[in-house]
This record gives sequence, structure tokens and C-alpha cells, in this order.
Amino acid sequence: MGKVLMGPSTLAYPLPAWLIGAKVADKPNFMTAAWAGICNSDPPKIAISIRHQRYTNSGIKHSRVFSVNIPSAALVKETDYCGSASGKTVDKVEICKFKIFYGTLTDAPLIEQCPVNMECKVEQVIDLGSHGLVIGEILETHVSEDCLTDGKPDIEKIKPFAYIGRPVEHYRAMGESLGKAFSIGQSLRKK
Ligand SMILES: Cc1cc2nc3c(=O)[nH]c(=O)nc-3n(C[C@H](O)[C@H](O)[C@H](O)COP(=O)(O)O)c2cc1C
Repeated sequence: MGKVLMGPSTLAYPLPAWLIGAKVADKPNFMTAAWAGICNSDPPKIAISIRHQRYTNSGIKHSRVFSVNIPSAALVKETDYCGSASGKTVDKVEICKFKIFYGTLTDAPLIEQCPVNMECKVEQVIDLGSHGLVIGEILETHVSEDCLTDGKPDIEKIKPFAYIGRPVEHYRAMGESLGKAFSIGQSLRKK
């Protein structure tokens, strides 16, 4: 099989497109992050890779808390905008018409229109070079009532979407289910 060498790269598919929130200069601000993921289960922790100079980062550094908001496909424009404009120069909350609410962490703004919101407390920041890996403990999770089925978060209602990075730089909706996890592979077990 032929393979073409691409050199060291950040090519990894798919990536999330989440809205990271923090209060900066006493105002809520959000930036889009794709280099992010859950990194511990007990206690639940999440890691977000944030370029040092981001305006949002200054708020996280100051308050030591942040939020993770998972947008649905209907918010793709707003998510893209929050990833290209800086809170240094524009009020993204006003432009995107985000309705803000707060849970227990008063410096971690949450977006009502996003079906899933997490309140996080910074546990450590690892300097990786261009980015700092912000590891936060998830203290609370909010899920919109209308995105639940039998009391559980329903992916068909949440409608998250993925970011496909360079070189295509596109957002893609979730595709069809391929099989039940921890189950579909069991048919390969030797009897
Ligand atoms: C799809 C997408 C993903 C992004 N992922 C990241 C990321 O993981 N880390 C990061 O530092 N910036 C990322 N960015 C860039 C920031 O969101 C962008 O620079 C934003 O304007 C920063 O806002 P702020 O200055 O208000 O904090 C991403 C942008 C887009 C569009």
C-alpha cells in the first residue's frame, strides 16, 4: 500500500468545535476551540489547548474558571465567528445574540442556546509552546431539557457538529450511527 509522507502535522479528524467561555474585564467572552477533549473520568476533567495570546485566555488566567459550551448545528455561523473575531475588539455575545446564564461559578458564563454547558475549574496549565493546555475539572453539566429523551442527553436532539481542520477547514454534521460501542466489535472475539 502506498503512503505519502506529510511531515509533522496536526492532522487529526474529526475535532470538536466548542465555545469556551470566560469573563474578561467583567464581561462574558467566548472563543471557539477544536483542540480539546475529555481527559479524565473520575473526577471528570477536560483539556483545552489555548494559544497564549487569546483574549479568553486572559480571563481564564485571572479567574481560574471557564465554561465549555457545545453548540448545535444551528449555531455553526456563530461558532465560526467566535473563532475568527476577538473579544479584544468586538462584543461577541451581543453580535451572536447569546443569552448568558450562570451556574455556581460566577466567572464562567454559559450560553443558553448551546444544548450542553460545562462549568470548569482550572486544575493545571501545561505550557506546550504556542499553546497552553488548560486542564479543568468539570464541576457541573447543564443539558437543555428539550435535548433529553427519557432523562438522558439525546445526540439526535443535541445535534453537535465536527470541525475538519486543514487543509479543508469545514464543519460537518454528525453522520449515521455505525454501531453500538463496546458491542459491535464483540463479534471478532475468538470463541
Ligand atoms: C474551528 C476553529 C477552531 C479553533 N480552535 C482553537 C483552539 O483549539 N485553540 C485556540 O487557541 N484557538 C482556536 N481557534 C481560534 C480562536 O477561536 C480565535 O483566535 C478567537 O478569535 C479567539 O477569541 P478571543 O481573542 O476573543 O479569545 C479556533 C478557531 C476556529 C474557527
